[in-house]
Amino acid sequence: MKKILILGGSGFIGNCLYRELYPYFNLFGTYCSASRFSKQKNFFYYNVEDDNILTVVKKIKPQLIISCLRGPFEAQVACHKHLVDYIQNFDCRLMFISSTNVFDAFEHYPSYEFDKTLSESPYGRFKIKIENSLLSLAPSKYVIARLPMVFGTNAPRTKEIEAQVASGTPIEVFPNTIVNVTSDRKLSQQVHYIINQKLTGIFHLGSSDLITHFDFIKRIVSRRKLKGAVFKQIFTTNQMRYLVALPKENKLPPHLHVSYESILEDLYLP
Ligand SMILES: NC(=O)c1ccc[n+]([C@@H]2O[C@H](COP(=O)([O-])OP(=O)(O)OC[C@H]3O[C@@H](n4cnc5c(N)ncnc54)[C@H](OP(=O)(O)O)[C@@H]3O)[C@@H](O)[C@H]2O)c1
Repeated sequence: MKKILILGGSGFIGNCLYRELYPYFNLFGTYCSASRFSKQKNFFYYNVEDDNILTVVKKIKPQLIISCLRGPFEAQVACHKHLVDYIQNFDCRLMFISSTNVFDAFEHYPSYEFDKTLSESPYGRFKIKIENSLLSLAPSKYVIARLPMVFGTNAPRTKEIEAQVASGTPIEVFPNTIVNVTSDRKLSQQVHYIINQKLTGIFHLGSSDLITHFDFIKRIVSRRKLKGAVFKQIFTTNQMRYLVALPKENKLPPHLHVSYESILEDLYLP
């Protein structure tokens, strides 16, 4: 059975991928501060600042590494450089969970898979650095999955909105920013399909329809039946601004397309 190692398997996205793939693959994960994972025999402690990732990789010898890490940016860049060197010489592929923020300097239109990346944020620039090191690999060796904001019933973003409403803390919203979105459930299905079909290259995995950030957050508040939300509207520019990556070249089949309405449906109260 194919061995898959999920870096950041204890995190929100890493763990939802872990749960999706577990029945079908020989799965391993890393954790850092979430010590409850130390009890799981296929989880390894890994700290991107102190440890060499190749120690874990050489122990497991996975055919696929999925990178869902957070942590200090420069340490993550160095970690992915080690991974790219390893992948060049071994029977292994690398899937990097990237972000729409690699395009956050382009405000006037959505971006597509092969558009030039450019970011004004430290987060986007660090994602670009890692993407560029993957791009030095043969195309059959990597997947770059660019995600918008990820929601879901138990997503940290959803929980944060609930906590803010409960405590009366204003929720920061961007009425001028047009976004697309996804959910943990939809993302897991898409990643599973990419792995099964052995697809490689760059994928934009957000909803195909667009909405302003403010409207989407208002819809979540209403869907979760939260009462008394206070919004703090932030205008970064006078014009509408896109933070959107859409698929053009590497489209998944229709049953894996996502709409923001379907993401909201996933947010019904249990
Ligand atoms: N969530 C979103 O909306 C979203 C959108 C676009 C892209 N992304 C990208 O998706 C990836 C995963 O995001 P997430 O939301 O799942 O984050 P998360 O829930 O915070 O999970 C991060 C993972 O990284 C691990 N980690 C944190 N610090 C570390 C360190 N110093 N050394 C080693 N491991 C460390 C965490 O381990 P412990 O928990 O055990 O400490 C956890 O497994 C990130 O690269 C993020 O940029 C996320």
